Amino acid sequence: MKIDFWKKCLVQWGLGMLMALAGSGAFANQAVKLDHAPIDPSDMASLQRGAQHFMNYCLTCHSAQFARYDLLTRLGLTEEQVKKNLILTDAKIADYMTVVLNPKDAKAWFGVPPPDLSVEARVRGADWLYTYLRSFYRDDQRDSGWNNLVFRQVAMPHVLYELQGEQVLKVEEGKPGEHHAATLVLAKPGKMSPKEYDQFTADLVNYLVFMAEPMQQTRIRIGYGVMIFLALAFVVTRALKHEYWKDVH
Ligand code: HEC
Repeated sequence: MKIDFWKKCLVQWGLGMLMALAGSGAFANQAVKLDHAPIDPSDMASLQRGAQHFMNYCLTCHSAQFARYDLLTRLGLTEEQVKKNLILTDAKIADYMTVVLNPKDAKAWFGVPPPDLSVEARVRGADWLYTYLRSFYRDDQRDSGWNNLVFRQVAMPHVLYELQGEQVLKVEEGKPGEHHAATLVLAKPGKMSPKEYDQFTADLVNYLVFMAEPMQQTRIRIGYGVMIFLALAFVVTRALKHEYWKDVH
């Protein structure tokens, strides 16, 4: 009787965990392996290029309304450089990175309004973003003509296709019980070679990570400072302790 009760509890707990896992999407993306994003948050040149790509290709549809343009001066750029090269609207340097696109129009065009990207890198992670931006493929079933391997039925068209080219999905039929392996093949090359496009997306993701947490590098520097201080304080305190207690022992 007692054992039955605990068995029941265990089964219910197991089912609950399974449902939670399925709900969190842990199973949904299992088939797609994410590529590691080769980013370096201390590489200013990469961040500057990434910021430029973001302004040119993303800010037309997506806002970044928690970031001000003057944030870009932390990437080793002067206010003049930011104003001249990176503000493509009539916004001022202290303005937030809002978008001209009207949310109602966006909903009518895409079915879903493009989400704000200020903290997107914290929501999805760098590897997901890096893989996502390289995983668009042609799909005639979709209104936009595009689909994405890591974000099925995505409403975003492949805005970088001129650079990357056009990929198509190739599904290799597995034996019964085996996985069907889906790979992307570059059917029509773009302006960039695959290597150049990887670098382009890495820079862009590097910038998205910076924008989502601009203090990250400062925090790491402060962290090192604190550790060095504690190490020195330890040496001094230990020496003092020896000095005080040497007559007692
Ligand atoms: C033509 C408009 C348009 C442009 C330009 C555009 N996007 Fe999108 N994007 C969308 C729409 C619409 C969605 C919503 C997709 C959905 O939910 O199905 C989206 C979704 C996304 C998502 C997924 C958001 C999430 O977590 O659900 C990311 C990441 C993203 N875009 C990044 C970018 C980046 C980076 C750029 C610049 C290279 C960019 N987008 C340019 C329209 C656009």
